[in-house]
Amino acid sequence: MENKEKYALVTGGTSGIGKELAKLLAANQYNLILVSRDQSELQLVAEELQETHQVQVHTILKDLFRRESPFEIYDEVKHMGFVVEVLVNNAAQGAYGEFKDIDINRQLDMIQLNIGGYVTLTSCFLQDMLSRGTGKILNVGSIAGEAPGPLQAVYHGTKAFINTWSSSIQYELKDKGITVTALLPGPTETDFFNKAEMNESRMVQDIPHADPEKVAKDGFDALMSGDAKIISGFMNKVQVGMANMQPDSMAAASMYKQQKPVDRKED
Ligand SMILES: NC(=O)c1ccc[n+]([C@@H]2O[C@H](COP(=O)([O-])OP(=O)(O)OC[C@H]3O[C@@H](n4cnc5c(N)ncnc54)[C@H](OP(=O)(O)O)[C@@H]3O)[C@@H](O)[C@H]2O)c1
Repeated sequence: MENKEKYALVTGGTSGIGKELAKLLAANQYNLILVSRDQSELQLVAEELQETHQVQVHTILKDLFRRESPFEIYDEVKHMGFVVEVLVNNAAQGAYGEFKDIDINRQLDMIQLNIGGYVTLTSCFLQDMLSRGTGKILNVGSIAGEAPGPLQAVYHGTKAFINTWSSSIQYELKDKGITVTALLPGPTETDFFNKAEMNESRMVQDIPHADPEKVAKDGFDALMSGDAKIISGFMNKVQVGMANMQPDSMAAASMYKQQKPVDRKED
């Protein structure tokens, strides 16, 4: 099958890493299905990619905080008759602050988006991939999933889930013609920290952020090669290596220092 007949579905394809992944997929002649919550952003990105790369771009306006949304996306794609050869699970959010202070409904929404959305879309599209014996899945995890993250406790937990779940299903599917790739970015220059209300953190103020174009290229290359996992950036590889060797209490203290507000002096 030519790439032009194939579709890649990207959740959160209107901003940051997801938008850069969508650009790379379009440049490689994949038609696209883009999902997010902002119709005008979806329209803008769709027009840009259609004009630049002469591919088909279908947009789906959906809030992935809702448990039903991934099922509705799958139904719409099937109704349109599109064959999803590449699934990019990318849309996720963080929330900044101590666990005890963050509204539980916000935390549950995040768990649904960051875990439920990925797992449900994968479960739905995987059945079709298995029937065809082909398919590629990219799960955007994070180096945050490799260490405890005080002040982003639930976010780190969701990314730990994605990192290990992705490796588990990669192993289960390795002889079935379907590749599963986990992309683990470190801090990256996107709207993520703004949405997470993290602008006062050291992570935003003092720590250098990667270019989302570079992060997406690492993920895209790994996806196309069928690699199981890519940690984007040399320093992020070092940080993950160190976190894996440290006791959790030390890794938590180190993450706290990175994530605390710049003006907090007590520790
Ligand atoms: N930026 C970083 O430092 C960093 C580091 C490691 C991992 N990551 C991971 O990279 C991925 C992409 O994040 P990013 O940094 O590119 O963030 P971003 O610029 O904020 O983009 C997030 C995308 O997800 C969409 N989205 C958010 N909430 C949604 C919802 N409820 N329903 C549907 N779509 C939703 C957004 O569109 P709307 O808001 O318009 O819906 C947007 O298109 C995430 O998995 C994130 O965890 C980011």
